[in-house]
Amino acid sequence: MRLLSVRLIVSLILGSTLVSLLFSYSGVVGEKRNLRSDLEHRAEVLGESLAGNVERSWGSGSEAELQRLVQRFGNREHLLGVAVYDRHGSLVAMTPGLEKLLTSGPQTVSRAISEGHQQSSFDNLAGQRVHILALPLERQGELVGGLAVLHEAGYIRQQTLRTWREAFLRVLAEVFLIVLITLVIVRWSITGPIARAAQWMRALRTGKVSSRQGIPDLDLFRPLAREVATLAESLNQARSAAENEARLREASESMWTADRLSVQVHTRLEGSRLFVVSNREPYIHQRNGKAIDVVVPPSGLVTALEPVLNACDGTWIAHGSGDADVEVVDSRDRLRVPVDDPRYSLRRVWLSKAQEEGYYYGFANEGLWPLCHIAHTRPIFRAADWRHYQEVNQKFTEAVLEEIEDVPNPVILTQDYHFALLPRLIKEKRPDARVAIFWHIPWPNPEAFGICPWQRQLVDGLLGADLIGFHIQSHCNNFLQTVDRIVESRVDWEHFSVLRQDHRTAVRPFPISVDLTPEDDSAESANQGLNYLERSALLRGLGVEATFLGIGVDRVDYTKGILERFLAVERFLEKCSNYQGKFTFVQVGAPSRTHIKRYHDLLAEVEAEAERINWRFQTSRWKPIVFLKRQHSHAEIAPYYRAADLCLVTSLHDGMNLVSKEFLAARHDERGVLILSQFTGAARELRDALLVNPYDIDQTADAIRQALEMEPEDKQLRMQRMRRVIKEHNIYRWAGNLITELCEVRLDAPEDTQEKLRASVSFA
Ligand code: G6P
Repeated sequence: MRLLSVRLIVSLILGSTLVSLLFSYSGVVGEKRNLRSDLEHRAEVLGESLAGNVERSWGSGSEAELQRLVQRFGNREHLLGVAVYDRHGSLVAMTPGLEKLLTSGPQTVSRAISEGHQQSSFDNLAGQRVHILALPLERQGELVGGLAVLHEAGYIRQQTLRTWREAFLRVLAEVFLIVLITLVIVRWSITGPIARAAQWMRALRTGKVSSRQGIPDLDLFRPLAREVATLAESLNQARSAAENEARLREASESMWTADRLSVQVHTRLEGSRLFVVSNREPYIHQRNGKAIDVVVPPSGLVTALEPVLNACDGTWIAHGSGDADVEVVDSRDRLRVPVDDPRYSLRRVWLSKAQEEGYYYGFANEGLWPLCHIAHTRPIFRAADWRHYQEVNQKFTEAVLEEIEDVPNPVILTQDYHFALLPRLIKEKRPDARVAIFWHIPWPNPEAFGICPWQRQLVDGLLGADLIGFHIQSHCNNFLQTVDRIVESRVDWEHFSVLRQDHRTAVRPFPISVDLTPEDDSAESANQGLNYLERSALLRGLGVEATFLGIGVDRVDYTKGILERFLAVERFLEKCSNYQGKFTFVQVGAPSRTHIKRYHDLLAEVEAEAERINWRFQTSRWKPIVFLKRQHSHAEIAPYYRAADLCLVTSLHDGMNLVSKEFLAARHDERGVLILSQFTGAARELRDALLVNPYDIDQTADAIRQALEMEPEDKQLRMQRMRRVIKEHNIYRWAGNLITELCEVRLDAPEDTQEKLRASVSFA
């Protein structure tokens, strides 16, 4: 800045001096010219009037008369005198005192006489600057001599010098003032704002102010300020993204949050979008008199995927199954959800009664569900159901193609056994799409799967995907063995992938989870366990008094082992009679798929079994089993999870089982014991649960006793360890890994096909 000022001052001095000098020079030259012409003019006036007089006196022939005449003009301003010459240039008369100057006749006079015209010149005579005006003298038209009027001209030079001196002083003053004023202006409207801007930018850079706050008055630089503010905002965003990244890196690979998932997905999608396809929709609109209720269905899949969609704002395509669903969608069957805080789009697909019957109840839930769950319920395969299954898969494919129409390289996560044919159907139309299917239920061994009449078509449809996910490695292995056995392909056991018709499908385990994050474990959420009084109140609400509480939460499904669980409670009370009157087991049971006879019957069986056991043990104020036969919201279930001494998960076969993880997530107080079936996917991760074989009723009964009598320190240690597992392997990690893996898959469509496809996609 200082260097700049010196350069500015020097330039200003030089520039303004030059300009002032130029103006002064032209002023001085002009003034000199004026003085000279003024002198010449005066000399002419005098000369002309004198010449007339001299010419008249010339005629009288008296030299004395001429002398007298010339003497009269000796005392005028700057006039040195006049001299009269005869025709030959000889002096006739002269003002006294001119002798010193006129030692000889001036050239000017000779020229005037010889040419007969007035002549004027500035000469140096005897060291003095003199103006000479020479006029020819005539008498009766005849040239008789010449007249010289001499003025002292030295004053012109003195005047010029004086003017130069004054100009110099003026230039000095001007230059000083110009420099001073310019510096004041520069400081006021340039360096001042620049200094303020620099200070503000420094504050922005160091994050002390926000970009939209405190923009200083930058005067001339206001447009610049706006640009800088925008730049700073981008900088801030980039900085916070980087900080976020760094924080996440700092938290190492182990911690996943909604923010990290959001960052990860946006980075991976590279401007594309995420599409999720499932049969079950996350929100069901149901008529309730004149009102419309919004219901969240009891589905592990919905519990798991909702946070993912919330974090990434994608589109969820699902069957519109509510009786008021159609009333709340737009003309393209879409709506934004969650209704009170819209974060992503839901696209509903409508099915006819016959389609729902054949595809959902029939093929998916009477065929594939029992086929994949080894729970000893025989699968039923009807050709008509299979046709509906194909039809509905086609229908969903069309909906997906519509949604991804304007989206290049869309990322599609298909869910579950309802859509085994979808991956191939989509990839045939859009090879540029990245398609994954996540199979939420177990995959049985090839022998078990082999009873399905359409096993080849199902496996072939699945192999259209770029990535197939299961909860655990053994389901992946079962799937690869099935593929190996029933379709022509090359199974790569080293990389867990299948090559079929030049298309590679990766097969990987992604254990699904709940949305417990490290932040959920903040100080406020700790100690949220219900105290004894609250627990009593909860039970009193159910008409029971008990000291110990067990909880089970399930859809009423034969795979969940609810009957076995009740039998274990009965056995426990038999074995440990001291707990009679003290231990109550609450079973929250959401009726599910009751349109299917097996489920309908099961509901009745479960009720009857609870009643039987209760009848056997109950007292006026206590009963061993409370069966809550209706769907409960997460908020309604949470107090039971927090109040329970133990949670019973006794599935006969389960892909993962999220209830076990939800129970752990709810236990911020680090109390409570999880009894978990060894046939759940969750049992692979939750080694600190009391693992049981649900078919072994005595073992489960013993586990109930062990749980109730476990040392508090042991309970806490197990709970801490299991909570750490689900915090580290939460739903964000599941989605993050699945999407990352899918985005890393190399698409096998030839380049030119992809180019053509890209070209045909019209961008909105
Ligand atoms: C399991 C399946 C899900 C299904 C859920 C509820 O978790 O894997 O796909 O949504 O059960 O069953 P529902 O038939 O009511 O959707």
